[in-house]
Amino acid sequence: MRIRFRENGPYVLDLPEGTPFRLNGEEMRLERAKLALCRCGQSGNKPFCDGSHKEVGFQAEKGEVETAP
Ligand code: FES
Repeated sequence: MRIRFRENGPYVLDLPEGTPFRLNGEEMRLERAKLALCRCGQSGNKPFCDGSHKEVGFQAEKGEVETAP
């Protein structure tokens, strides 16, 4: 799995569409191949990014983490 840290933005997980995951104990499936998680703490739809990072001027470096298969 690869997690990207967008410059001044969210964590983005690249996963195959339909990948099952658990959020607060609830089983869910990805509707898209990317999952953006809030890194700024200002999203109105946590843990997902809703674009609020742009409005609050969130600043952070970009980066990437990749796990071994
Ligand atoms: S990173 Fe996008 S709303 Fe927080």
